[in-house]
Amino acid sequence: MPVQPAYKTRADEVDDLVETVKNLIIPFIRSAEPSSSTSGSSKQYAAGDGVNGDQGQHPMTLVDYHAPKELQSILDLDLPSKGQGKDGLVNMTEKVLRYSVNTWDQGFMDKLYASTNAVGVAAELLTAALNTNVHVYQVSPVLTLIEKHVAKTLARMYGFTDPHSGGMSQPGGSAGNSSSIVIARNTLYPHTKTRGIGSDKYVLFTSQHGHYSLEKAAQMFGFGSDNVRSVPVDKTGRMDVSALRKMVVKSKEDGEVPFYVNATAGTTVLGSFDPFDEIAEVCKEHHLWMHVDGSWGGSVIFNKGIAEERLRGVEKADSIVMSPHKMLGVPVTCSFLLAKDMRKVWKAMTLPAGYLFHTSDSEEIFDLADLTPQCGRRGDALKFFLSWVYYGEEGLSEKIERAFELATRMQEQLSRSENVVMLSTMPPPCLQVCFYYAPERQLGDPTATSRRTEIMTERLMRRGFMVDYAPGENGKFFRIVINISTTEETVTRLVEMIEEVGRENTT
Ligand SMILES: Cc1ncc(COP(=O)(O)O)c(C=O)c1O
Repeated sequence: MPVQPAYKTRADEVDDLVETVKNLIIPFIRSAEPSSSTSGSSKQYAAGDGVNGDQGQHPMTLVDYHAPKELQSILDLDLPSKGQGKDGLVNMTEKVLRYSVNTWDQGFMDKLYASTNAVGVAAELLTAALNTNVHVYQVSPVLTLIEKHVAKTLARMYGFTDPHSGGMSQPGGSAGNSSSIVIARNTLYPHTKTRGIGSDKYVLFTSQHGHYSLEKAAQMFGFGSDNVRSVPVDKTGRMDVSALRKMVVKSKEDGEVPFYVNATAGTTVLGSFDPFDEIAEVCKEHHLWMHVDGSWGGSVIFNKGIAEERLRGVEKADSIVMSPHKMLGVPVTCSFLLAKDMRKVWKAMTLPAGYLFHTSDSEEIFDLADLTPQCGRRGDALKFFLSWVYYGEEGLSEKIERAFELATRMQEQLSRSENVVMLSTMPPPCLQVCFYYAPERQLGDPTATSRRTEIMTERLMRRGFMVDYAPGENGKFFRIVINISTTEETVTRLVEMIEEVGRENTT
C-alpha cells in the first residue's frame, strides 16, 4: 500500500502534484521537438525517421499504436477501491503519455487541429486552478467579461458592427452550429419555442461538403436529417448558389418551411469557402437565416490578406461559428458562436430559471448560460484570450500566413510528382492538401485506389506520419493537414516519404 505524502496544505499538495506531472509532461513534449529524434541527423524534422524499431533505433514519438483490445490490457484500467495517491497518479500519467498520440510531433497531420503551444498549456492550468463555472456573472465575474469581450471583438472583426453584436463560447463547432439552428428557428418562428414544430416541415440547407453536425442537429431537434438538403457544389467544392435558389423555391412550392442556410468557411475535407455574398442574396430574398460554419476556416480572419478573398460577404450572415481550437492551436475545446444581434439570441434561448438567473436585462446579458444549452460552462474563452495577449493579432496572422505558404509549397512539390493527381486547387483554399496517389497519374479502379491509399496511410504511420484520407469519385484520396507548427523540412520529408511508400508494392 503506497504511503500518501502528508501535505500541510492544499497548496502544498497542488505544488507537489503539478511539479511531478510537469516533470513527466516536459520530456513528452521535448521528445517531439523538431531536432530531437533524428539520431544525429542535422535535419530539423521530428517525423519519419523510423518507428517502433521498424527503421530507426528508437521508438517513434508520434504514437506507439495498438489495437483497442491490446491497449486495454496494456493500460490495465481497473479502478482501485483504495486510493493509490501520488504513485497511482504517476503510474497512470506515464502510461497515458506513453500510449497517447503525441500531437506535438511534426508527423501529426491527420486532423484539423494539432498540438497546443506553451501558452495553451499554461492557460489550461489556470482554467483548471480557477475551476470557474461561467454560467452566471456572480460566480465568474472576470471570465464572463473576458468571454464577452473576446466574442464582441471577434464579431467586429467579421464585420458585425451593430452595438448589439457579440457572442459566447461553445463546447465545439458542432455545438455552435446546433445552437445557431435553434436560435434561427425560434427567431423566425417564435411560436416553435414553446409549441414545437408540429407537423410543419422545417427545412435547412447546407452544401454537399458541409459538416455532418447539421444533420445530427436536425435529428436531435426533431427536424429529421432528410430535411437537411444537400446543395450541390462546383468543382472546387463551393456551394452552387443557383442550385440553392432553385431548391429553396421548390421547398416553398412543396409547402415546406425553409428557414436556414449553412454556408461553410473552410470545408472539412477540401477546405473550400462558400460564396457568402451570393448566398446572402438568396437568404435575403427568401427570409432565411444565414449561418456561416467557420469552425475550421473562420480563423483566417486574423490574416487580412487571406481573409479578404475567402471571407468576402461573411458580414451578411446572421451568425458565425469559429473555433480557435482548430487552426489557432488553442487547447480543445475553444469555439465561439457569434451573432449580429445578441438580443435575438437571448430571446430565442432564455428560460426564466429563477434559481440560477437573477437578472433579466435583455439589452446586455451577463449570465451567459441563459444563452446556451449548457448550464455549467467551461471558461474556454480564457485560453484564447491569453493566446491573443501572448501572440497579438500580428503573431496569429503570421502563423496563419506561414501555414498557408507551406500548404502551397507542399502542393507545388506534390504536383511535380508523376504519381500524384491533385484534388486541391492551386493555391489550396485552406490548409488541407488533397490528392490521389496514382502511378503515372493513371486513376484506375476506385477500389484499387482506395486500397492503395489505405495501405500507404498505414505505412506512413509506421514511419512517423499520421495522415488521413476521405472518399472521392475515384476512390479514397489523401487529405494532409498543415498546421501552424508544421516546418518546411517536415513538408519536404513527407513528400519524399509518400513517394517512397508509393513505390513499394501497395496492391
Ligand atoms: C467545417 C466544420 N464544421 C464543424 C466541425 C465540428 O467542430 P467540432 O469538432 O469542434 O465539434 C468541423 C470539425 O472538423 C468542421 O470541419
